[in-house]
Amino acid sequence: MPCPELHSQASLGAGDVARVIDAIIERDGAGDPIVPLDVEQALRALPLELSEAGVGDEEALERLRRVALATPTTGGTRFVNQLFAGRERVATAAEMLTAVLNNSMYTYKAAGPQVLVERVVLERMLAKAGMTGGDGMFTPGGSLSNLAGMIIGRNEVVGDVREGGFDGRGRTVYVSAESHYSLTKNANMIGIGRTGVRPVEADTGGRMIPEALSAAIARDRAAGESPLMVVATSGTTVMGAFDPIDALADIAGREDLWLHVDGAFGGTALMHPEHRGLMAGIERADSLTWDAHKMMGVPLICSVVLTRKAGMTRKHFDESASYLFQQDFGGEHGWLNPGTRSLQCGRRNDALKLWAQWQALGDDGYAKRVERQMELARAAADLVRADGRMTLSFDPAWINVCFEVTGKSSAAICDDLNDSGVLKVGFGIVHGRRVIRLVTVDPALGEADVERMIRDIGEAGERAPAEDNAVDQAAVG
Ligand SMILES: Cc1ncc(COP(=O)(O)O)c(C=O)c1O
Repeated sequence: MPCPELHSQASLGAGDVARVIDAIIERDGAGDPIVPLDVEQALRALPLELSEAGVGDEEALERLRRVALATPTTGGTRFVNQLFAGRERVATAAEMLTAVLNNSMYTYKAAGPQVLVERVVLERMLAKAGMTGGDGMFTPGGSLSNLAGMIIGRNEVVGDVREGGFDGRGRTVYVSAESHYSLTKNANMIGIGRTGVRPVEADTGGRMIPEALSAAIARDRAAGESPLMVVATSGTTVMGAFDPIDALADIAGREDLWLHVDGAFGGTALMHPEHRGLMAGIERADSLTWDAHKMMGVPLICSVVLTRKAGMTRKHFDESASYLFQQDFGGEHGWLNPGTRSLQCGRRNDALKLWAQWQALGDDGYAKRVERQMELARAAADLVRADGRMTLSFDPAWINVCFEVTGKSSAAICDDLNDSGVLKVGFGIVHGRRVIRLVTVDPALGEADVERMIRDIGEAGERAPAEDNAVDQAAVG
């Protein structure tokens, strides 16, 4: 007997969730401060506990609504805290459809044309990176795209790791001192260990210094270590710096090292005819991480790892499973079962939202989007420069605007703005000081929004305690 309580999906989409979505969009659009609940308030106010007896669909949907509306916004004009923000209409619609379709991307049998959609997106991204004919896959985020790139690099350099395993002691990985923490985490996961990571000195603009890389490799070789790979960053998390890929590719080539580029944040520069020059030499990299959920404005998660050489994902991740891969697509159609070359088994289609948004904007629209993001960063930097109370940390090369309210605590200012619901903005460490980092990742912001943010930060600065911004970089890592 069918159980109606367990099969109530007929009314799904008829308004239950749509009403919550409308409420969130209305709240974000109003632009009023949104005071966050602290943990105690959230635990008291929200119906979070699960119970033995269910509460039924209607009450569950009501609880869902309450939790959703109490969740911080990332879609309005009061969120510049991370490297993603905003809400693109088409991509968001596609993401919702992905959930309703609920296909899994391991086989053509299960996902049908969704596999073709994914392929089209990967091929376009490969072309943008100058890696046409290469390989790639979607992963659950930039950290794991970096992991996949590092696994492939390790296996290619060392050989026989996939079958025989690996003793990673004495192996070294070179990263920028400004690089993302996922690289250290991944060094653990690929068997090298965190002590095998060599943070290479960056210049005052946050870019890895090639001569310092060469010197570090020479030092390690002299000490009997075996260098394995270089990871360059395109768009560092705090400063938005781009490591000089061409120069690093020269060194990696000379030293027989894999070159992975972490473009999780900055990879989107490739969409702009001039700013792609920030990644000059990218076509020489062995692998590249590129997150579309950051600057391309599609909902979390949407990340790829691309490789210059063909066949890398199959070579390093292929497994067979007779209960799953039942239609054997060999030869030129081998890619039709992407599950045979993925980190995952069951896998949602993260490509659909990017494909849909790219359909809407085209390459040209995406180039304009990047231009607008940069224009907003320049506007914010100009406002900081013109404000006698503030000190700009450096001229932005990308969309990260870093500054201090002179003499005032950056951390206290960020806390004050968060607690009052005025603005979510974070701080990072630049040149040994805690600085406010404002990232203009949402191109839907207007100049007036940016002006308001700088004004709000200045006002919070006036209330803030004296600065405690100098940090012992060695102590914080
Ligand atoms: C440079 C860089 N690489 C990698 C990542 C990790 O990306 P994800 O959050 O998608 O795992 C980030 C995240 O901010 C980043 O800034």
